[in-house]
Amino acid sequence: MKIQPPPGMRDFYPEDMRIQNWLFDHWRSASRVFGFVEYEGPIFEYLDLYRLKSGEEIVSQLFHFQDRGQREFAIRPEMTPTLARMVAARANSLPRPIKWFSIPRMCRSEKPQRGRLREFYQWNADILGVDDPLADAEVIAVAVEFLRQVGLTRDEVAIRISSRPVAAALLRSIGVAPDRADRAFALIDRHDKLPPEEFARQWDETFGRQAPAARLRDLLDRTTLETCLAIAAREADAARASEQVRELWRRLRDLGVAEYCEFDLNIVRGLAYYTGIIFELHRRKPGLRALLGGGRYDNLTAMLDGPSVPGVGFGMGDAPVLELLSKLPRLSEMIDAFLIDAAPEFFPSLIEIAGDLRRDGVAVDFSYKRQPISKQFKLAAGREARFAVIVGSELASANSLTLKNLGTGEQRLVLRDDLKAAIRS
Ligand code: HAM
Repeated sequence: MKIQPPPGMRDFYPEDMRIQNWLFDHWRSASRVFGFVEYEGPIFEYLDLYRLKSGEEIVSQLFHFQDRGQREFAIRPEMTPTLARMVAARANSLPRPIKWFSIPRMCRSEKPQRGRLREFYQWNADILGVDDPLADAEVIAVAVEFLRQVGLTRDEVAIRISSRPVAAALLRSIGVAPDRADRAFALIDRHDKLPPEEFARQWDETFGRQAPAARLRDLLDRTTLETCLAIAAREADAARASEQVRELWRRLRDLGVAEYCEFDLNIVRGLAYYTGIIFELHRRKPGLRALLGGGRYDNLTAMLDGPSVPGVGFGMGDAPVLELLSKLPRLSEMIDAFLIDAAPEFFPSLIEIAGDLRRDGVAVDFSYKRQPISKQFKLAAGREARFAVIVGSELASANSLTLKNLGTGEQRLVLRDDLKAAIRS
């Protein structure tokens, strides 16, 4: 019986790993230039951590199981609850701001589709311990740093930003009662997955009497950042949120990333813990779902019975980003040198030379099978070696080897003692 990988899970052959590592290198380098440090957590957690903190949508996508002691666990579907748990446990001793990033592998029992898998990696960058919108701007800017590094321009992608409290105030302004804002957000979150008539029908069924769908459409489509903030500022409890959005925009401009950002009330985010600014990265052409999602969560550590530590951050999946990047660089795992024996009797010396070079950190390989020189050269080319080193009779006569640059074709005799330096130069 032939067994395939389970649906939505991937095998990573060496050529796929090269691409993964290329992506992770960019995620790491963007994080580091912004001063984030790396952390990790467990691959599974107590089920309750997600049941209590993540919200319905993610809980319905959990892979969970019981251990022999009947305890219930779930494979992590996201990193934020783990991060909040870790920070809550050391909240008093961690120096602020806490700027942490991670590249966890995680699972969600979603229907596999373009850019959405059941097992994926997700770059997380979060800042905790600061409630200044500058932190919100910094996490958005680190995402933009990555986009710039991989050549994604503002013509191809946009970071769409909203604010939960500002959006709630706007919903109140069209007649949605405050205690029904969450229900309204959940529906708005689904609005681009439903045909417009079906969305309007569902909306009117729930809110139609106080806030008809047409008024909502009007609000979502036509209202500019300035009008939104002006309406929200009139409501006592949204005035601060409105000022924070203004401040965020100033900081995005200061950091030189505002060109990638747009205000968009259609962004509501499915997760339950967001309390302030929320944002997603989308490609401008419709198609793929969000490439990144994040926001401010100021109550999460307190919900875990820790001290209150405000936080803001995002997650970016590997699968949607790789789907989008049409021009991946040509990556190779070049070795420094491929050793070739001119005849089988030189093979023991070849192994010795390989050992010496490897101990010095030179990446070297050779054929395990004794075969004609021309075939060994073919193997060297296949491995994209920079040099071929021919071990032949000159080793005995002059303690020398032939070094051939496989890029230029240039060939010369070098002393065995000078080989390492010649390869390195
Ligand atoms: P999320 O919106 O659930 O947020 O996921 C964030 C991103 O992870 C998505 O925009 C997408 O790029 C990627 N992603 C999600 N599901 C899948 C999937 N099935 N396959 C591939 N990629 C996927 C969160 O997870 C929050 N915890 C992010 C966050 C960090 N908020 C604050 N800090």
